[in-house]
Amino acid sequence: MKNVLVVGGAGYVGGTITDMIKDANYNVRVYDKLLYEDSYRKEIDFVYGDILDTEALLPHLKWADVVVWLAAIVGDGACQLNPDLTIAVNQEAVKWLAQNFDKRIIFMSTCSVYGAQDKELDELSPKNPLSLYASTKLKAEEYLRDKDAIIFRLGTLFGVGDLYSRIRLDLVVNILTVKAFTIGKISVFGGDQFRPLLHVKDVARAVTMNLESSHTGVFNLHRQNVRIRDLAYQVRMHFPDIIIEETDMPFQDTRNYRVTSEKANKVFGFKSIHSIDEGIDGLKFLVETRRIKNLNSPRYSNQAYLKEMEGVEHGLRAVAS
Ligand SMILES: NC(=O)c1ccc[n+]([C@@H]2O[C@H](COP(=O)([O-])OP(=O)(O)OC[C@H]3O[C@@H](n4cnc5c(N)ncnc54)[C@H](O)[C@@H]3O)[C@@H](O)[C@H]2O)c1
Repeated sequence: MKNVLVVGGAGYVGGTITDMIKDANYNVRVYDKLLYEDSYRKEIDFVYGDILDTEALLPHLKWADVVVWLAAIVGDGACQLNPDLTIAVNQEAVKWLAQNFDKRIIFMSTCSVYGAQDKELDELSPKNPLSLYASTKLKAEEYLRDKDAIIFRLGTLFGVGDLYSRIRLDLVVNILTVKAFTIGKISVFGGDQFRPLLHVKDVARAVTMNLESSHTGVFNLHRQNVRIRDLAYQVRMHFPDIIIEETDMPFQDTRNYRVTSEKANKVFGFKSIHSIDEGIDGLKFLVETRRIKNLNSPRYSNQAYLKEMEGVEHGLRAVAS
């Protein structure tokens, strides 16, 4: 059995990836600093650690035949809070990985590297990162160029991957579903902007398919390019009584892009099997069965949580001084 180290595996994507890799009969170990969690409860070998602590990480890299690298500060707003930390975690730590690990690497990048562009984008299309998040991911991709590495540029993810890991309620399908449930109203700003969307379980499938494949390089991964306005109406199919409020006011997030995942389909037969409706249903189940006590808690949004933690640390420093 081969050893797979899932770095950053305690997060939203990590939950479903670790399950699927374990089910495929690999030895799985998670290395994570639990940025958003108080505990790690899954029955999976777990090491609490920071990727910036390279001395602590190195023995686990030596153990691994494959590294799945998920650890990052994720999202435009979250990355802006501490740019130096974002560069260290999202970019420089990947440079270090490239210099210190010569076996198989599976790395998560983002379709945000394309920024705002009109035509359907493939892996060779020009890049136009509009945020620190996107530019650090693009830089990280470059460090992995000559490695035995497969890089997935993921669309915006949605759905419930497993029932243990923290759900992210700062992702568009998940947010709209929760708003429909909690306030019975969805506000759409502009609404013409496209996003490529993908169920979180489809990412886990693509990763598992490539743990031992010889495919390298960059692959877009998405299911469908969807206009935000159309998405709002799709959510309403699941909550028929809600109101959709459309305003012309432009949203501060200027990303707008459509991608093709034809390359992943041709090279390793990737085809998404989890629909947007399935994702909405998964979220609906979670909220209707009251598995989340406080849907407004910052814990479920990367930016809001890190901002709150920053405030707490600031307060503690003030008390100590
Ligand atoms: N969720 C999406 O829509 C999406 C889209 C495109 C790309 N991605 C990529 O997928 C990966 C996983 O995203 P996610 O949605 O699970 O995010 P997440 O924020 O839920 O998980 C990130 C994990 O990394 C860990 N981490 C952060 N800094 C660390 C450090 N210094 N040391 C150790 N662990 C650290 C966190 O504790 C967390 O468990 C990321 O690389 C992200 O860029 C996600």
